[in-house]
Amino acid sequence: MSTQTRPQRLSIARIQSRKGGDKLVCLTAYTASIARLLDEEVDLLLVGDSLAMVVYGYDSTLPVTLDMMVAHGAAVVRATQHAAIVVDLPFGSYQASPQDAFRAAARVMAETRCNAVKLEGGEEMAETVAFLVKRGIPVMGHVGLTPQAVNQLGGYRSRGHDAAERLKILADGVAVAEAGAFSLVLEGVNEELGRELTAAVAIPTIGIGASPACDGQILVTDDMLGVFAEFTPKFVKRYRRLGEDIRAAARDYAADVREGRFPAPEHTYAGPPKRAKSSA
Ligand code: KIV
Repeated sequence: MSTQTRPQRLSIARIQSRKGGDKLVCLTAYTASIARLLDEEVDLLLVGDSLAMVVYGYDSTLPVTLDMMVAHGAAVVRATQHAAIVVDLPFGSYQASPQDAFRAAARVMAETRCNAVKLEGGEEMAETVAFLVKRGIPVMGHVGLTPQAVNQLGGYRSRGHDAAERLKILADGVAVAEAGAFSLVLEGVNEELGRELTAAVAIPTIGIGASPACDGQILVTDDMLGVFAEFTPKFVKRYRRLGEDIRAAARDYAADVREGRFPAPEHTYAGPPKRAKSSA
């Protein structure tokens, strides 16, 4: 057995214990190459169903299938050793019944080896959250702006601006936390509601457009890198403009190929191919 020490993946218990402590740093990841680059820098990587829009070019998260989430989730787990990995349950795989949710979540856990699943919804999903947690599946909740409900919400506007909606989102967050979720994504709400809900629950809140009051933050990696640049929501901070770099690199490559500068001698095998020695 190797005596080398390997970095330990952050457990769900350690993520949960960060309530009110050091801020939780979370990003999305969908592929092995990007997950490997992010792994050491973050506490948690979410294989979000946002991959529908970011990777597959759909105009909402609704078309994602369980097969797609399993394939991307497994790639991200294989490429990482440090961050806790959470995989989104896709639309339609968990809403109909706790039993459906268990089947979908168990498949995701078994086939990807991730640490937990995430599902969207509040009071109406509390029974399902409790059902999964009692059967050994850690669950991250997601309330506020819930993109899988885009057709009901009428768009991706921030939420909780009137008193009734504010109270509903508070009740949603509390219901999911009391049902046993280990953390709660809070998306698209104002600072007051972010602060109020963070104070109201005993689990860490992870904000995306939900103010610095949350216990942690998450962004869609392609947004913050400037790769997915068609539209930048107010809450996204662009840390790089990689989209511009990628376009410029493709332009330089195209010019080199067209003008005969690539491949150069250093990219070209010289001489006759070497033959393998015969053992006879
Ligand atoms: O799918 C996703 O990327 C998400 C984050 C926006 C939290 O749910």
